[in-house]
Amino acid sequence: MRAAQTSTSAPNAAAPNAAALTTAALTTAALAPAASWRLRTRLELAALPTAVPCARGHVRSVAREWGLAGLADTAELLASELVTNAVQASGSPRTGPTPVVRLGLASDGVSLAIHVWDGCDRLPVRDDADFEAERGRGLMLVATMSQEWGSYRLPGGGKIVWVLVGAVNEP
Ligand SMILES: Nc1ncnc2c1ncn2[C@@H]1O[C@H](COP(=O)(O)OP(=O)(O)OP(=O)(O)O)[C@@H](O)[C@H]1O
Ligand SMILES: [Mg+2]
Repeated sequence: MRAAQTSTSAPNAAAPNAAALTTAALTTAALAPAASWRLRTRLELAALPTAVPCARGHVRSVAREWGLAGLADTAELLASELVTNAVQASGSPRTGPTPVVRLGLASDGVSLAIHVWDGCDRLPVRDDADFEAERGRGLMLVATMSQEWGSYRLPGGGKIVWVLVGAVNEP
């Protein structure tokens, strides 16, 4: 497994917006051109704990639909961690509409990119937790089980945390 890298800035000059969630801007410029990432989905969920099982099921179904069943376990787990974090970062306002989180999936038929938008501008910071720690394991898992991950703010507000899952990550 290739050592995971992290990035806290948009790795591609073509800055996306939250609505488009284009894969080219969510992964590195070194990856295949955007045109080959032709498989894309987007799902908006209320930023509630129920978003997590919804996201898990969605990721599993889409991975199978796209012929990537071998990536489903890893993708589901990592999506779960990112969506959990996004829900937590969104807070729980007592009045007004419930915030949302957005889950975007994209694939070139080989790898799967997962991107999760939330409305909080604060970027995630990976803790140096060990597996016995009570907190800080989510991003450690993400870094360990992905090919690459990163996060960046969007001009329109909020930020995306993204992760790239490929066959190389399978046990
Ligand atoms: N989407 C996010 N927005 C803001 N901060 C985030 C986001 N995701 C993670 N973080 C922060 O980054 C740090 C590490 O996140 P990580 O998921 O590894 O641990 P955790 O959520 O604190 O605990 P665990 O995932 O083990 O239950 C935490 O301080 C967390 O609040
Ligand atoms: Mg977490």
